[in-house]
Amino acid sequence: MKDNTLELFAKEVEEGLSQSPKRLSSKWFYDKKGDELFVQIMNMPEYYLTKCEEEIFANQTERLTSSLIAGFDDFDLFELGAGDGSKTMHLLEALKSLNFTYRPIDISLNAIEQLEKRVAANIPEIQVEGIQDEYFEALSKLSGKRPKVILFMGSNIGNMLDDRANEFLLKLSATMQSGDRLLLGVDLIKDESIILPAYNDAQGITSEFNLNLLDRINRELGGDFNREMFSHTPQYDQDKGIAYSYITSLAEQDVSIKALDRTFHFQKEEKVFTEVSRKYDDRALQAITNHTSLVLKDKIFDSKSYFCDAIFEKE
Ligand code: AVI
Repeated sequence: MKDNTLELFAKEVEEGLSQSPKRLSSKWFYDKKGDELFVQIMNMPEYYLTKCEEEIFANQTERLTSSLIAGFDDFDLFELGAGDGSKTMHLLEALKSLNFTYRPIDISLNAIEQLEKRVAANIPEIQVEGIQDEYFEALSKLSGKRPKVILFMGSNIGNMLDDRANEFLLKLSATMQSGDRLLLGVDLIKDESIILPAYNDAQGITSEFNLNLLDRINRELGGDFNREMFSHTPQYDQDKGIAYSYITSLAEQDVSIKALDRTFHFQKEEKVFTEVSRKYDDRALQAITNHTSLVLKDKIFDSKSYFCDAIFEKE
């Protein structure tokens, strides 16, 4: 964690709760508790995204490797938001005889250290150099003369609104040399009956994940949110292909936050927007890769065609 994290958290919470409609960024979900809850989310039956992408990496490794590294003798393999790297292990295993360095990037130092240990224990022939940073900041570290293969999996891009995702991919493509490759994992637009349960599971884990943000404000900023007076309310807009998460106030109430020396008023039923989880089709994919000089080379789907790993090459 960088030293200014708490300051930035306080600033963004103040800005977000002063807006109308109120909002809090999903990037603040991931404290220690949030990381644990996200691991539980990835394992729950309703959350198909991780399982579908895992299936692609396990069953279509050859196609992935040939699309990603054709023509490269030695290269750097970057992974943005690597987490525990379980899906990537399939790819690393297939690449282990080649000359490359695996450079996973994650905001969590703990995640990076665990991943380095995991690779060393399971595939010792692979050289790993982890980088602890946020996606946007990490872009400047994607340097080096060797060809680059960049993995951005898990539909993490979907947590950015289209303009921001496009801005991110523009910056990412600017760090790439001609011929470098990007694998972008995206969840596909499909029926609400499949998508909504992934964000509104029967065990209430996603609700915990969303409401943990209020606990985090209480813990780190001295807030007095009463969790019982708020609920997790996800929605899916099928026309746009976007899942939204909100925290809804169950009563008219005031909440004070000591670190901000402020009190915020909530109306009954007032919603705080917390997360966007965009789903994609060709048009949506086109919208976020506009003006980037990333050319779509291959699209690899899981057996149910719920999820897609799209492979781009820099022009
Ligand atoms: C990390 N990200 C891709 C997840 C998603 O599906 O949007 C975060 C998440 N939010 C609720 N459940 C999972």
